[in-house]
Amino acid sequence: MKNLLVTGGSGFIGSNFIRYLLEAPDFSGRIINIDKLTYAGNPENLKGIESRFPGRYVFEKTDICDAKGLEGVFAGYQIDAVCHFAAESHVDRSIARPDDFIQTNIVGTFNLLELARARLGAITLFHHVSTDEVFGSLGEDGYFTEETSYKPNSPYSASKASSDHLVRAYSKTYKLPVTISNCSNNYGPYQFPEKLVPLIILNALEGKPLPVYGDGLNVRDWLFVLDHCEAIWLIMKRGRRGETYNIGGNNEIRNIKIVEAICDLLDRLAGKPSRMESRRELITFVKDRPGHDRRYAIDFSKLKTELGWTPRESFETGLEKTIRWYLDNREWVDRVRSGEYQAWMKEQYG
Ligand code: NAD
Ligand code: DAU
Repeated sequence: MKNLLVTGGSGFIGSNFIRYLLEAPDFSGRIINIDKLTYAGNPENLKGIESRFPGRYVFEKTDICDAKGLEGVFAGYQIDAVCHFAAESHVDRSIARPDDFIQTNIVGTFNLLELARARLGAITLFHHVSTDEVFGSLGEDGYFTEETSYKPNSPYSASKASSDHLVRAYSKTYKLPVTISNCSNNYGPYQFPEKLVPLIILNALEGKPLPVYGDGLNVRDWLFVLDHCEAIWLIMKRGRRGETYNIGGNNEIRNIKIVEAICDLLDRLAGKPSRMESRRELITFVKDRPGHDRRYAIDFSKLKTELGWTPRESFETGLEKTIRWYLDNREWVDRVRSGEYQAWMKEQYG
């Protein structure tokens, strides 16, 4: 992988992945990051990276829905591998306005696959980063395996499911060398504060209500973002071509427990706010998300057995690192919360 195209590299997971990979002892290639820089993409996430790694990182502002623009990038940088993160990623936004999810997640992925197909032989790998949400919702028991049938419930997960199917089809039909990973909920530094963990951290810091959807008993499986990055790189290096790998944290937690844990950690790290026994007093149950999936849980034994991966970070240490990062990076927070963010918060939470 001499010239690795990373799509959506200025978002949350993409930027963590680029930093992780440039420091990895077993990657010596160049990364070409293409990103449209939507509200979720932020050049500051990779500030100073060109000078820290001279000649090894290039940024091109490109929309994956623009096939012509993409073609210029593939030809201009002699792309030989792709790691595809770019997507519209927030479920609530997909419920409010699905259009961009269809365009970016489906048509954008198709454009990338077509360019890879035009270079069959030169492209050594197309890795597609996907989600456990494609499998739908679990009851009290059971786990998603790689064999679980797809049953997406939101426009977001339906669009990701569609992109997974396209990637698989290009592998079968055109023999494009692909790998796919389906991962559970990530948390960590640089996450845009529309997602549960950073939203609750910032609201709790500022004494604002902490919105918990429905009864707060929905379960997610939480994974620290750098553990996800490590798993992706392992799959890219050693995963069997044409295969899918589930990635999870072995960390099933109810939403209300996450919110309470953040409150308690913040009370310890930032001090209790005046006139309050605990930040838990800010918890506010609000209207449920339509079609809200009840429980996700991942069986990642394939990844463990074949490639030896297990998550390194415990939820306690990962959450503390994350909270400290938000406390230490107030300028980043202030900047991402200007303009568009305010409009979204008003639309979603009133
Ligand atoms: P994010 O929303 O933080 O970042 C998405 C990035 O894609 C942004 O930089 C954005 O500017 C860019 N982008 C959006 N539309 C684009 C377009 N048309 N052309 C080029 N760039 C575009 O998302 P994230 O949380 O970092 O997720 C990255 C990937 O990982 C997504 O594919 C998502 O489905 C998947 N995933 C996320 C999680 C999670 O918990 N966040 C879990 C599993 C899988
Ligand atoms: O499972 C992987 C998926 O995890 C990724 O594919 C998505 O890109 C990512 O956004 C995430 O989806 P979720 O919908 O699970 O994440 P979110 O942070 O939006 O919500 C987590 C849980 O918390 C979910 O059950 C909804 C609930 N929630 C969320 C918000 C924003 C609340 O109770 N209140 C909130 O304000």
